[in-house]
Amino acid sequence: MKISIASDHAGFEQKQALAAYLEGLGHDVIDRGPGTDDRVDYPDFAALVAHDVVDGAAERGVLVCGTGIGMAVAANKIDGIRAANVTSPVFAALAREHNDANIVAVSGRFVDEATNREILDAFVSTEFGGGRHADRVKKITALEG
Ligand code: RB5
Repeated sequence: MKISIASDHAGFEQKQALAAYLEGLGHDVIDRGPGTDDRVDYPDFAALVAHDVVDGAAERGVLVCGTGIGMAVAANKIDGIRAANVTSPVFAALAREHNDANIVAVSGRFVDEATNREILDAFVSTEFGGGRHADRVKKITALEG
């Protein structure tokens, strides 16, 4: 799967590790930065990954900041993005199954790397459930613009 990933300074260390993890699983990873842990603003990096997803350059996106919250809030400003801020593997699976989330935003400061790896496993392996969930996702899309 083609996956775009980015972080801010607070998520940099885990972004590096999680990008390597996804590559090790055979995914095609686009690393949108940053390249160091110098202080940056998370909306700038959320936008890069969000545009990769809506433009079709990537099927899914992964964002890492201190909490994951700011990244999700920013990414959800882009039409077509359904970014879920997730702290457990079961929520990652439900974000895919019920919400057809196309970006997962995780915490680099409050969730350990092993848990975030499990979150990514669930996020990439769970299919959207469709059916009644599809009707609801259509209603989310209708709220855009
Ligand atoms: C940076 O200090 C922090 O605010 C950011 O990484 C993120 O947690 C915001 O939601």
